[in-house]
Amino acid sequence: AFNLKNRNFLKLLDFTPKEIDFMLNLAADLKAAKYAGTERQMLKGKNIVLLFEKDSTRTRCAFEVGALDQGAHVTYLGPSGSQIGKKESMKDTARVLGRMYDGIEYRGYSQEIVETLGEYAGVPVWNGLTTEFHPTQILADFLTMREHTDKPLNKVAFCYLGDAKNNMGNSLMVGAVKMGMDFRAAAPKACWPTEDLVAQCREIAKQTGAKITLTEDVKEGVKGCDFLYTDVWVSMGEPDSVWEERVKLLKPYQVNKAAMDATGNPNVKFMHCLPAFHNRETAVGEEMFKKFGLSEMEVTDEVFESNASIVFDEAENRMHTIKAIMVATLA
Ligand code: CP
Ligand code: NVA
Repeated sequence: AFNLKNRNFLKLLDFTPKEIDFMLNLAADLKAAKYAGTERQMLKGKNIVLLFEKDSTRTRCAFEVGALDQGAHVTYLGPSGSQIGKKESMKDTARVLGRMYDGIEYRGYSQEIVETLGEYAGVPVWNGLTTEFHPTQILADFLTMREHTDKPLNKVAFCYLGDAKNNMGNSLMVGAVKMGMDFRAAAPKACWPTEDLVAQCREIAKQTGAKITLTEDVKEGVKGCDFLYTDVWVSMGEPDSVWEERVKLLKPYQVNKAAMDATGNPNVKFMHCLPAFHNRETAVGEEMFKKFGLSEMEVTDEVFESNASIVFDEAENRMHTIKAIMVATLA
């Protein structure tokens, strides 16, 4: 079997396909046990700290519920209220928290920060989203894909439409090549992942049999896909000034009925890490409507609310997969 005890979970590039598969299976087992009422607590007496320099609903709640289900105690440190980033460096913070806690979650800015935490903490560090990667989300997405198709992951084709150079685009590509999948990104060239990351992924793909297609043509990207995936056009931490250009660039890559139909697959499913702009029912949605006259951005309300949409299964699976990561690295 696999022993991931004491490992950091910072990016999927650090894990083998078998290790990723192991975490997915563990998550499925933990999910089944919770549903059956037979979950065994493997993190009793453990203390976990959650560092958030950016906002969150799903990731924070997934860590809290996952930890509590397993008998662990959590401390939440939000974007303000601690010494982090003001009076104390990440390197010092890591060494302090590592003396008190058994595991540390970090959500924030550059990947370098979470790598520093991971280097100095002396206890497992989990990446809850950086500018470059969002690896816990990918485990939830792949578990959800497994639940919605009879195919093994290495027979699955999916297309990510939109800002393919953000944390989701990057992490989905890495996860897909690790698992031998047929990965497509449909996006304008300006929004493709860096050449460096693509090159790394092409190397991995040679070993796993994965396929990588980067295209500006939506029809080519989505053809024959089992899943279409999208994310916000502007990510947390980006300045408001990028909205205008991003909307112009990405409008043709909206996931709408035409894009779903263009797959040619009547069973195609829609995925999104959430939060999503699919109507005006949020402060930002309303602002964007006033600014650009668009009440739907990366996905139409029609697709989001359709039977093809599996976004809330993904959201639930954040908890089961994050729980699995904690159990695998701590228990
Ligand atoms: N998908 C995701 O990470 O959501 P939150 O920002 O709410 O954690
Ligand atoms: N790309 C988004 C993902 C949110 C879960 C962001 O970084 O804001």
